[in-house]
Amino acid sequence: MKIETFYDNHTATFTHIVIDEATKHCAIIDSVLDYDQFAGKSSTDSADRVIEYVKQNDLTCEWILETHVHADHITAAHYLQENLGGKIAMGSSIVKVLNLWVPMFNNEEDTPLTGEQYDQLFNEGDTFKIGNLDVSVWHTPGHTPACATYLIGDAIFVGDTMFAPHLGTARCDFPGGSAEQLYNTIQRFYTLPDSTRVFLGHDYPKEGDDPLHMITIGQAKKENIQIKPETPLSDYVAMREARDATLAVPKLLFPSLQANMRNGQFGKPSENGKQYIKIPVNLM
Ligand SMILES: [Fe+2]
Repeated sequence: MKIETFYDNHTATFTHIVIDEATKHCAIIDSVLDYDQFAGKSSTDSADRVIEYVKQNDLTCEWILETHVHADHITAAHYLQENLGGKIAMGSSIVKVLNLWVPMFNNEEDTPLTGEQYDQLFNEGDTFKIGNLDVSVWHTPGHTPACATYLIGDAIFVGDTMFAPHLGTARCDFPGGSAEQLYNTIQRFYTLPDSTRVFLGHDYPKEGDDPLHMITIGQAKKENIQIKPETPLSDYVAMREARDATLAVPKLLFPSLQANMRNGQFGKPSENGKQYIKIPVNLM
């Protein structure tokens, strides 16, 4: 197994490509469609770098995996699929997220509540293959109700659950989020061997520092500032909820959610043929 990681510094997001070197099949985990919210303009520089890598290395894209519906960037899943093929997959609890958010946007017309816009929805314990590599799926809620973690050999792809040790864990204050669930998710990660490599969803390095895309379970157990194996649930929940109360709404929350519930598409054009982003007023 080879893992190639890309970093988008506008949204501080990692995209990981997992490659089975024997078959040259790969999976792309959590991609980015660039979006300038003030200009209302999307572009594909980040995704094109991933596409170029896949093509240059003669890889077959078997899967486009989402760890969750991102609230801070738009996914390039649809664009990648158009250019590389592959099946778009997500955790099956996405149906809860769709039923929570699609009515808020009043977008039922182009955003199915059933999850049929995904090629595959994974349940807890499901397994599948990337070439010859075996992948297991864990349902890892907390940050959102539908977060999925992908376990492949000695590596796990955790999306927004755990971050670098000095950052701690993801926020849990979006609708359907739960600090208690995230506590249980991370304690479950801590049951894995210390040598397990944890591939992260984001990092927010200081100016001049390189982003940290990978840690180990052993490191997280020792150094995570918010949760260690011995941290009591009540301490974690109190800390997480107090911290979440101070956090600003992500800049791309509304554009991201509505596009990501369609795999990064902007939806059915209006009668004039143009597409629009909806910003609900006084919702948050
Ligand atoms: Fe997220």
